[in-house]
Amino acid sequence: MFYKTSEHHGLPHNPFKSCVAPRPIAWVSSLHPDGTINLAPYSFFNALTSDPPMVMISFNGYHEHGGEKDTLYNIKACGEFVVNMVPLTLKDAMNVTTANLAHEVDELALAGLSTEDSQLVKPPRVKESPIHLECEFFKEIQLPCTLPDSINTMIIGSVLGVHISDEVLVDGLVDLSRIKPLARLGYMQYTSVDELFAMARPDD
Ligand SMILES: Cc1cc2nc3c(=O)[nH]c(=O)nc-3n(C[C@H](O)[C@H](O)[C@H](O)COP(=O)(O)O)c2cc1C
Repeated sequence: MFYKTSEHHGLPHNPFKSCVAPRPIAWVSSLHPDGTINLAPYSFFNALTSDPPMVMISFNGYHEHGGEKDTLYNIKACGEFVVNMVPLTLKDAMNVTTANLAHEVDELALAGLSTEDSQLVKPPRVKESPIHLECEFFKEIQLPCTLPDSINTMIIGSVLGVHISDEVLVDGLVDLSRIKPLARLGYMQYTSVDELFAMARPDD
C-alpha cells in the first residue's frame, strides 16, 4: 500500500509510528520551579550528535490540565534535565509515570522509584536506572501541527555528563544485554534489546 500523509491512510490505526521503530525511550526527570520532581517517558527522542553529545525530544500536544506538558515546562524553566534509560525490568514503573497527573504529583514516588543527586544539573536521577544523561537545555523549535488546538515542540539538549553503572560495564564496553533497554514501537507495542551482534564496515 501507499498513502499520502496529507490524506487518510485507510487503516484502522495510524501506522506511522510502526514505520519508524524501534524508538528509544527518554525517561526524563525534571524539576518544577516549586521543587517538585517530575518523571515521564518520551519516545520521540534520539541522539543528534556525539561530539559534543546532543539529544532531542519532541512534545506533542498540551498537558491534559492545560498548558505545556510538565517535562517541557520544567526543562525550559530550570534549563536542565536528566534522561534516564529504561531497562526492561522497569517497564511497569515507566508505564506508571506516563499518567497525565497534576504537576505537583511526584511520579517517582508513585512508581516506587528513588532518586539520587546529579553531578552537574539540579534535577535528580532515577537511582534504579543504569544509565543517566545529565543535560542542559539548548534550543526549542516549534514544529508544524495539523491537529486543531494542539502543538508540536522539539527541544534540543546538550549532554553535560553521563553516568554508567559499573554493573553494565564489561571490559570497558556498555553491555546492553545486561540492561535490555526498552523501546517503543507503534500502537501499544514495545520491544527490548535482547539480541546483539557486531558487524564490521566493508572499509574497516
Ligand atoms: C513509551 C511512551 C513514550 C511517549 N513518548 C512521547 C513523546 O515522544 N512525546 C509526547 O509528547 N508524549 C509522549 N508520551 C506521553 C507522555 O509520557 C505523557 O503525555 C505524560 O503524561 C507527559 O508527562 P509530563 O506532563 O509529566 O511531562 C509517551 C508515553 C509513553 C508511555
